[in-house]
This record gives sequence, C-alpha cells and structure tokens, in this order.
Amino acid sequence: MKAIIPAAGHGTRFLPITKVVPKEMLPIGSKPALELIIEEAKRAGVDEITLVISRGKELIRQYFAGDESIRFVYQEEQRGLGHAVLVGLEALALSADDSQVLVLLGDALVAGCDASSEMLGFSRAHGGVSVIGCEQVPRERVSRYGVLEIADGRITGMVEKPSVEDAPSNLVIAGRYLLDVRVADYLRTQEPGKGGEIQLTDAIRRMLADGATVLAYEYPGHRQDIGNPKGYLNALVAMGANE
Ligand code: G1P
Repeated sequence: MKAIIPAAGHGTRFLPITKVVPKEMLPIGSKPALELIIEEAKRAGVDEITLVISRGKELIRQYFAGDESIRFVYQEEQRGLGHAVLVGLEALALSADDSQVLVLLGDALVAGCDASSEMLGFSRAHGGVSVIGCEQVPRERVSRYGVLEIADGRITGMVEKPSVEDAPSNLVIAGRYLLDVRVADYLRTQEPGKGGEIQLTDAIRRMLADGATVLAYEYPGHRQDIGNPKGYLNALVAMGANE
C-alpha cells in the first residue's frame, strides 16, 4: 500500500511561526506531528509514502531524509488539495497491485483510534471499495469541511465547504481517504471549485457519479486540526493523553 501526505499548504492560519516552521513540524511531545501521521500510515501497512511539500518547507525533507520509505515531491503552485494529491499520485510508481492509495492530510492527527488501519479493514470487509474517514460535527460548523450526502448508508454526493443551509448532512470529511487510484483521472480534468482551488471533494463526487462505490467510515476517534493555534493546543492534550 502506498500513501500520499499532502503537506504543501502555507500555514496561513498559524502565522507567524509558520514563516519558518511548517505546521506539520510542530512538536507533539518530542516528535513532529507529521511523524505521528507517518507512523499511523506505517501501522496500516504502508511501505511507500510520498510527501507533497512546497518550497520553503525543506525542514520536512531534512527531518525525514533518512527514512527510505519516504519520497518528496514539490507542489510548485498552490492550486488546492486536489492538485496536491494529483502531484503525489503522478510521482508514485504505481504497479498493477496498487488499486488504492491512502491519503492522510498532513495537518490532521487522529486521536483515540488508528484511523488508517481501521479504514483499510473496513474497505477489505466491503470488497476493497474506496472509503472516506469522516466524523459528525455540530451543524453550525459544517461550512469548514467537505460534507457528505448519505442515503441508505451510502455516500451519494459530497460538497466542499457548503453554507450551513445548503449542507446535505453534518457528516464531514475528516482528514483520511482510502481511494481508488482512478481518482487521478478525475483530478486531471477537475475544474477549480470552492476558493478557486482544485478540490479533492469535487473529483471524488464525479467518480461517484460515474458509479464508483465510496463508503463513509465514521472512525471512533477525533480529528485534531493542527493548522491553527487552538487546534494545536487541543492536539497536544489529546495526543499526550494517548501516550
Ligand atoms: C480539507 C478538505 C475538506 C475536509 C478537511 C478536513 O479542507 O478539503 O473536505 O473536510 O480538509 O479533513 P482544509 O481543511 O484543507 O481547508
């Protein structure tokens, strides 16, 4: 299994420290947050990780340089999460065995469960379909996330950062995806969406519309958004409590 960790964002919600320290390198105890995400991927059986970074985030490259299972690729332009994932997918040497790829967002820790391993198990139990890690949030917060539309226990649609009124549910995408590698075909042709960016959510929605099965897995833990000071403090407490 191969994994992509997008970590190319500029950390604007965590300035000024992110002028020199990428948010993914902020410490949780004695390790950078990103190392915990890499450990999660490895526990799930991932043997090759592509880190998508941007210029100026060389500290990431420096820190993980000795790890032979990690490769680095640059997203040269900030064109959104979907574009970063595509950059990662195109850098992967996919073989015929690679029907799925795990995507772990570099600013999302999961406390309280092993989200990637659980999603892989869930996928296998359902014939190897794509799985989106998700969680429920209070309705008034849905517009910060990709929001899932569910009917009869299956995902029927998804929309990136809708208004509270337009949101199809309060079940939101929470930092982990196990995707059919054919998502690359959709990302290549994806028009910019919310915020003028190429959205992963939009590409997965088109894949669904073409008949792909994508299941929602509400993992029994909590996503910790380390991309802002308050989320980082919460993560310190939540992850520390798990050590
Ligand atoms: C991204 C995704 C969004 C998802 C969120 C949390 O948004 O685009 O669909 O809900 O991560 O996993 P971002 O937080 O990068 O704006």
